[in-house]
Amino acid sequence: MGSTPAPPNHNQSVSERLFTRAQAVMPSGYTRHLAVAKPYPIYADHAEGCWITDVEGNRKIDWINNFSALIHGHNKREIIDVLSAQAARLMSAVLPTEWEVDLAEILCARIPSIERVRFMNSGTEANQIAVKAARAYTGKPKIAKMEGGYHGQFDLLEASFQSTPENWGDPRRPSATAYQAGHPQGLLDLVTILPLNDIEATREILRAEADQLAAVILDPQRLQLGMVQPDLAFLEMLREETERLGILLIFDEVWSLRAGHGGYQGKIGITPDLTTMGKIVGGGIPVGACGGKQEYMSVFEIEAGDPKIKHSGTFTANPMAMACGTTSLRLLTPNAFDDLAAKGDRLRDGLAQIQHDLDLDGVVLGEGSISVLVMTRKPLRNYRDLAFAAATDLAARLPIIQKLLAEERLLTMRGGFVGSTPMTNDDIDFTIAGARRAFTRFKAL
Ligand SMILES: Cc1ncc(COP(=O)(O)O)c(C=O)c1O
Repeated sequence: MGSTPAPPNHNQSVSERLFTRAQAVMPSGYTRHLAVAKPYPIYADHAEGCWITDVEGNRKIDWINNFSALIHGHNKREIIDVLSAQAARLMSAVLPTEWEVDLAEILCARIPSIERVRFMNSGTEANQIAVKAARAYTGKPKIAKMEGGYHGQFDLLEASFQSTPENWGDPRRPSATAYQAGHPQGLLDLVTILPLNDIEATREILRAEADQLAAVILDPQRLQLGMVQPDLAFLEMLREETERLGILLIFDEVWSLRAGHGGYQGKIGITPDLTTMGKIVGGGIPVGACGGKQEYMSVFEIEAGDPKIKHSGTFTANPMAMACGTTSLRLLTPNAFDDLAAKGDRLRDGLAQIQHDLDLDGVVLGEGSISVLVMTRKPLRNYRDLAFAAATDLAARLPIIQKLLAEERLLTMRGGFVGSTPMTNDDIDFTIAGARRAFTRFKAL
């Protein structure tokens, strides 16, 4: 029990009243930085399919889907059934269950790089474990990541997530910069920052540091919500160089696994050494996973005695997440991915038409179930292009657009639209019509 609650103020909305209570018990009233909204957040009440209803009773199409985790949207019947049955049967235990074998079999069968897999509870944790595995396998201490790349809340990989012109240094040799206050220099010294899409500079850095580098990690599909995309030629170079130099290549597919039945790697035909996952693998319940060839995953094996990496965790592979993930992935057949992509194409075509008709300063990017309306025509090739754009017009426009879209009953984030399987063509057309009205008003501002 917290302190005695203040008497309710009936002039306030339900969300305002909840936020007043939250401010008395959580720093600034929040427990999740990305949920911050001014002047206060709108609290959710319930959801169905792709529609979410807030505590004020307003219904919107959910185009965020909890940062892409809810690929089946909300309250899918098969998922409710399996979770209810599993809650009644066994929520968690130290003994393994059949569900973890089922889920591991699905991932090994579908994702090209995965012969063996381990489970965790978040994408962050998956990346922590992958980094440990790479260091244990190679015996080398450093990890290379892209400038601006996001890999969750693991402080080692938070380096240079938001570098600024004051501290980012040479574009061909970016500095490792602190993201959080108190980020120790000792941790920054263990990270090498690579300039995305600069093939020559990245190759030079990898060659110069090969004897120190255990791994290169990147999201192969996107940087910062998809506004910047790695070139295929850049990914091919990374694959060739890391193989030649004895550095492991880790694809962080926590987000991009939703690109297709075999993940993004299955789509582009480039196979990393280790793959980290999360989000859709849990079907809506917190999860993480790290997999790869048996050779690299041997760091977890016990046959030779104590494993090199001793990985555990109270809720690791809990049957709720494993059952939910297995059910969710079984529903994600190749046809389901085709359908998601067709709906994505319909949305992108509609948004591109609006962009053309209204002569909006922007482009529509994305593929499959992810679409992004980038509000600038300047090419965004790396983090610095994006940071410069954000410092000028982009950052100012996105919150206004988000608000106008919300008034059309569309819940979106930073110009991004993340689709889900319950969305129908009517939902897409509703979205396009709402976006047309929102952008028409935006143009008139
Ligand atoms: C590419 C990528 N890696 C890692 C993470 C972190 O995953 P989690 O929030 O489950 O820790 C995210 C989350 O958005 C992500 O997009």
